[in-house]
Amino acid sequence: MTVRSSHPPLAELHCHIEGAAEPALASEMAERYGVDLSGYISDNGYVWSDFSSFLEAYDAVAACFRTEDDYARLGETYLTALANDGAIYAELFVSPDHARSSGLAPGAYIEGLSRGIERARVTCGIEARMIVVGVRHLGAEAVREAACFAASPRHRTIVTGFGMAGDERFGAIEDYAPAFDIARDAGLGLTVHSGELCGPDQVRRTLTAIRPDRLGHGVRASEDRSLLGEIAEAGIVLEICPGSNLALGLYPDMARHPLKALVEAGVKVTLNSDDPPFFHTSLAAEYERAAEIGFGQAEQLAFTRTAIEAAFVDEATRKRLLDRLMLQAIGCGAAANPTNGLGADDRQG
Ligand code: ADE
Ligand code: ZN
Repeated sequence: MTVRSSHPPLAELHCHIEGAAEPALASEMAERYGVDLSGYISDNGYVWSDFSSFLEAYDAVAACFRTEDDYARLGETYLTALANDGAIYAELFVSPDHARSSGLAPGAYIEGLSRGIERARVTCGIEARMIVVGVRHLGAEAVREAACFAASPRHRTIVTGFGMAGDERFGAIEDYAPAFDIARDAGLGLTVHSGELCGPDQVRRTLTAIRPDRLGHGVRASEDRSLLGEIAEAGIVLEICPGSNLALGLYPDMARHPLKALVEAGVKVTLNSDDPPFFHTSLAAEYERAAEIGFGQAEQLAFTRTAIEAAFVDEATRKRLLDRLMLQAIGCGAAANPTNGLGADDRQG
C-alpha cells in the first residue's frame, strides 16, 4: 500500500458514513436502484445551499445504499482512501434510522459495515470502530430507540460509542438525556453534536444534560471564555471539522475559525472531515488547513495523539495505536513535541 503524506499519521473521530460516499459511488448506486439523484449531484459534486438542504441531500444519497453489500463496499472504499492518505484509525458515525429508511434492517447494516471495516483492516492496516447515532430532528423517542440498538450486546466489539447528529435547532437537549443514559449504562463512549449551529448556551445545557466524553463540533463554545475554561478543565474533547464549518458558512475563512483559540485555551482538539465529499474536503485536507494557519508537524501529531487518547477503544487497542503513531511519527520527523498545544519550538510565523 502506498501512503501519500507530508503530515504525521492521521486519525478520524467524526465522519458520517453516508456522508463519506463519493458522488461517483452514489451515482452508481442510484442507477442500480433507479433513483434520480440529478437534483443533488452536478459536475461530480453534491449540490446544497444551506444546512437544511445539506441534510436533504445527505438523506437522498443515503437512500441509494440498500443492502449489506452496498454498505460493505461503502465502508471499505472510504477506509481504504483514508488509509492511503495516512490514517491509522477511524470512527464512523452510523445511523440505524438511515438504514431503515433504505429498507435495510439495522443489524444487517452493521454486519455489512463490519465486513467493509475488516477488509480495509486486512488490506491497509487501518483500525476502525462504529458510533451509532440518533438523528435529533426525528425526535427523542427515535433517538432512544437508536440508543437501545447501540446498547444491545450483539455488536459490542465494533460498536463502541453512541452519539446524536441531525439538526441541533430541533427540540430541547434535556429530552434526549434518557437515550444517553441507556448508552452510558451499556458502557458506550458518548459524543453529541452541539455548538455547531447553536451558541454557547446550547453547549452548556448539553454538558449538563448529556455528560458526554466528546462534543461533535463545539466550535461555538469559543464565544464564551468561561465555558471554554470549563471544557478544558473537564477534559472534554472537541471533534473539530474546519472544512465542514467553512462550507456551511459558520466562518468565512480559517483566519476567523476558532481552532487556534480553542487550542490556546487548553481545550483538547481533534481534526475531522464530517461529510468529506459534501464539503469538498478530506481528513488530509483538514490537517493541511491546520498547517496553513501555523500548526506545525508536532502540533498536527498532537491532534492525532489526542484523537487516539479519546478514541472509543479498549486499552490494549489504544496502546497499540499509540505505539504505532509514535513509531510512524519518528519516521516522518514529527515526534519532537507531541503535546496538544502550540509547541514553542514548532510555531510557524
Ligand atoms: N449529519 C451529517 N453531518 C452532520 C452535521 N455536520 N451536523 C449535524 N448532523 C449531521
Ligand atoms: Zn457531524
